[in-house]
Amino acid sequence: MNEQSPQALRTAAASAGTAGSYMPGFGNDFETEALPGALPQGRNSPQRVNYGLYGEQLSGTAFTAPGHRNERTWCYRIRPSVRHSGRYARLDLPYWKSAPNVIEDVTSLGQYRWDPLPHSDRDLTWLTGMRTMTTAGDVNTQVGMASHIYLATRSMEDAYFYSADSELLVVPQEGRLRFATELGVIDLEPKEIAVIPRGLVYRVEVVEGPARGFVCENYGQKFELPDRGPIGANCMANRRDFKTPVAAFEDREVPSTLTVKWCGQFHETRIGQSPLDVVAWHGNYAPVKYDMRTYCPIGSILFDHPDPSIFTVLTAPSSSPGTANIDFVLFRERWTVMEDTFRPPWFHKNVMSEMMGNIHGQYDAKPKGFVPGGLSLHNMMLPHGPDRDAFERASNADLKPEKLGDTMSFMFETRFPQHLTAFAAKEAPLQDDYIDCWKSLEKKFDGTPGTK
Ligand SMILES: [Fe+2]
Repeated sequence: MNEQSPQALRTAAASAGTAGSYMPGFGNDFETEALPGALPQGRNSPQRVNYGLYGEQLSGTAFTAPGHRNERTWCYRIRPSVRHSGRYARLDLPYWKSAPNVIEDVTSLGQYRWDPLPHSDRDLTWLTGMRTMTTAGDVNTQVGMASHIYLATRSMEDAYFYSADSELLVVPQEGRLRFATELGVIDLEPKEIAVIPRGLVYRVEVVEGPARGFVCENYGQKFELPDRGPIGANCMANRRDFKTPVAAFEDREVPSTLTVKWCGQFHETRIGQSPLDVVAWHGNYAPVKYDMRTYCPIGSILFDHPDPSIFTVLTAPSSSPGTANIDFVLFRERWTVMEDTFRPPWFHKNVMSEMMGNIHGQYDAKPKGFVPGGLSLHNMMLPHGPDRDAFERASNADLKPEKLGDTMSFMFETRFPQHLTAFAAKEAPLQDDYIDCWKSLEKKFDGTPGTK
């Protein structure tokens, strides 16, 4: 006879994936509390909240957004956010620009490439070290984006920030950062990304510096996972590999500043405590990190190759179906196996504007010149493609299965033309000879048939 009670189910010690300080999933309805019993159950707004906390809703979408797009989080905090706010004074951050930012004497029409921005010997924080390279669209109408490079050497101390204009997609390339946010702590290193939602207060600490990386500032609708269509329910970026932090708070009564980015301008207010005082929260509007080494690439297994949209990690839709405000696209290590195929990206001209950055290693269409930390811009309807060396090599290669190893690059692709900032055109290390990489592509046609 089986002595065991039918009720003696074995229970997991902790939910899988919740070990450490993160909860798995993308856009889940999470709940988390840093003190036991701090999170109200069964309702959002009880008459009195445990521990004397204040209940407050953070709305990331309009109240009336359709269900599958509706995002909000309920916070239970030591003080309501109005106590972390006061009179605002304008603050000048001259290198952080917002669209529209069209400079009279800067020509954005062109194929551009930059060497990595050198680290500065000055103290630079997340705010003072942000260098805008391009802007697109209009921050005031919440369309478009900006691309930035950050150089950070120093942590923000008793200083906090939020952007009312945008969510930030952060792509580290060197060094390690810690985002201490209202909803928890995200540690971030190269080959990972984080998405910090619009309106979320945080400070950035430099854990290992100097730190450098890329930021896509999304003025428009939030990033989401692309539909996979016939690919099915798996591969590309999987929901479980996105990680949202558990609740974490600090109760620090020290003079502090809060900087707000609002319609392209920066404003500062002085407060008497840390605003990172959310003890418990529940909801689906939250910061998230993702390890790009978990991205499962899909590709051709016989001939030709698909459009690079096959490598989309996240997409921020626009009002026009299938035409993204921003696609975040990842070129990572992968096998190429196609027969009788020109394997690198083909020559092309695109209505979308492509800002590429190199995180690590070598990119197959540009073996030289596009180095880790570097950027390239192929703007709306400007032709580009492999350079001569890459073309010749790919045209004559013995087409065995080949692993493209040691490579990780990305693209911020937007439906809007990208305008160079004065910094990108005049101060950043622009490669003046980039256009020459195609110069030696010779005419092979002589009117006679046969491959040349
Ligand atoms: Fe392209």
